[in-house]
Amino acid sequence: MRQLIAGNWKMNGLTESIVEIALMSRTLTTKPAHCDVLICPPATLISHAVQSGAPGVAIGAQDCHPEPSGAFTGDLSAEMLRDCGATAVIVGHSERRQYHGETDALVAAKASAAWRAGLTAIICVGETLLEREAGQAKIICKRQLTGSVPRGATTTNTIIAYEPIWAIGTGKTPTNEEISDMHAHIRICLGSRIRILYGGSVKPSNAREILSLPNVGGALVGGASLNASEFTTIVEFSQPSS
Ligand code: 13P
Repeated sequence: MRQLIAGNWKMNGLTESIVEIALMSRTLTTKPAHCDVLICPPATLISHAVQSGAPGVAIGAQDCHPEPSGAFTGDLSAEMLRDCGATAVIVGHSERRQYHGETDALVAAKASAAWRAGLTAIICVGETLLEREAGQAKIICKRQLTGSVPRGATTTNTIIAYEPIWAIGTGKTPTNEEISDMHAHIRICLGSRIRILYGGSVKPSNAREILSLPNVGGALVGGASLNASEFTTIVEFSQPSS
């Protein structure tokens, strides 16, 4: 299966940032990637990014509400995201779990909402440093997978992102052995060929190694996805199949 290199812009980007997506697209047009490429800008930029038309770069969202519509001030449904051109949505990112108190059950409801609207759900799991140091990383990820991945997950409607919380935005990454070990564990828990992305301080300098590890189906890139040149360098390191 093709790898996926996805960028999560988090709460970054104004209209002028669309140029980065255009630059990514231009690079990918001259040097086609052998992976799928997705950028998840803030929701305010989804329509703009889609309408500017960037061949080779799909556009996704960072969160959705479980309901299709209703009295939920400030929230966006999966149908709305689909309506403005998103093809995928990240759910259960650790920043949502941490700052918005999202539970596994809520994340599962959001993933189901994504499927209902025809979006691919990118479901995030990952342990804290304390949990890793206590030898609990695999137990925690298994519990999150059990609670956050609804029945009916397939290789087309679901992607898992393993993002150890202590590696996000810190410049620290697990060792190759730790990544391989966790991805193998997640593969067993899922019992299917669903793509498993690695996320947490992926950058041009470590992407080649990480993307060549077994069971790594791509990367979910934060900071380094804000810059077209860094992101397309990571894309170039993707492996033809995993
Ligand atoms: P960084 O790549 O900035 O560490 O962020 C990772 C992440 O949280 C992607 O969802």
